[in-house]
Amino acid sequence: MEIRVNLGERSYPVLVVHDEAVHFPARLREVCGARPCALVTNVTLERLYERQLGSWQAELGFVRVVIEDGEQHKTIATWQSVLDTLLAARLDRSALLIAFGGGVVGDITGFAAAAFLRGVDYVQVPTTLLAMVDASVGGKTGVDHPMGKNLVGAFHQPSLVWVDTAALATLPRRQLVAGYAEVFKNAFIGGADMFAFINQGHRAVLAGEADAMVQAIQRSIRVKVAAVEADEHERSGRRALLNFGHTFAHALERCMGYGSILHGEAVLWGIACACDLGRRVGSVPEQARTAYDELLLKLPLPPLPGRPDPQKLYEAMLSDKKARGGTLRFVLPTEPGTSVVRDDIGQEAVMATLGAVFGGN
Ligand code: NAD
Ligand code: GLY
Repeated sequence: MEIRVNLGERSYPVLVVHDEAVHFPARLREVCGARPCALVTNVTLERLYERQLGSWQAELGFVRVVIEDGEQHKTIATWQSVLDTLLAARLDRSALLIAFGGGVVGDITGFAAAAFLRGVDYVQVPTTLLAMVDASVGGKTGVDHPMGKNLVGAFHQPSLVWVDTAALATLPRRQLVAGYAEVFKNAFIGGADMFAFINQGHRAVLAGEADAMVQAIQRSIRVKVAAVEADEHERSGRRALLNFGHTFAHALERCMGYGSILHGEAVLWGIACACDLGRRVGSVPEQARTAYDELLLKLPLPPLPGRPDPQKLYEAMLSDKKARGGTLRFVLPTEPGTSVVRDDIGQEAVMATLGAVFGGN
């Protein structure tokens, strides 16, 4: 299945396949041509996929760059170490980088591709659910800074995204559920059909049933692609809809401590908060309330490592990079499958939501 991302000369295909690793080198050459390559992965994936990577390397002859595993390594230092290896290998501007991993590997590799010799092409091969449905598509690349997450980076679209759902077989359950957050989020922004799909099919997706999972991935990629095509550089507000639940999630990650809660886990709680706030400020029409209540019951909310302090969460929201000039921006649900960006929500309503969602935790 091919989903096209139409961005003029930056257009590219997202190929969604199942267990077709053996065909990857040929498809890569077909789309990107025969060129010198470097594959970036992390220590965990190198160990798990040694045979597959070995056989790709034999065919493609790439330089292998292996970074440490974990968000704490999504740093300028790691990014520089990738650039150091590319330079030491004397790759030139015809080079093609291949990101084999989750969102961390993808973001670092994309940012290395944006900067290496002022920009080379790269390919995303996402191996987590979150990276398949979100991080690998759309060209946001970057690294974290001590001042906050993703503060340094660039928009740089890949030339190909190769989504092989077979990789999910080795993904730990907790990571799978975290990735499911970005699928579930699309129920609120992907139109009535996506809302109905998640509402009816959530159990099969969460149980990892192959057909349901492939459907969920394809549909989610389409939602992401539509937002990216409409607003590639997040200027008009259309792409900002993808941040449904994220204003709350970023604050929760920060307050709970990165590492103690996964991004997707925080997004699941963020979705619950956005729905509560939507009801509170009246963005959810009366007749849609029951549909939302039903859907929220299906949300696989993970346990939190502690009880978050609403006041600290609010302060963390204000210091987020997306809180421009102290104005908080929320994506709030309206009709099922549709949301709006709001920057006129007062502190009282937000505090009431934080109290209601986290009060009894
Ligand atoms: P991750 O990249 O840290 O991967 C999660 C864990 O799963 C890691 O330990 C990894 O080694 C392991 N793993 C990956 N694939 C595996 C597999 N198939 N089998 C077994 N283990 C596997 O985390 P993530 O959730 O994929 O991505 C989170 C990152 O993505 C964050 O840094 C976030 O900022 C970024 N992100 C970027 C965008 C974007 O648009 N660029 C969007 C969303 C998130
Ligand atoms: N993950 C949100 C975006 O790509 O815009």
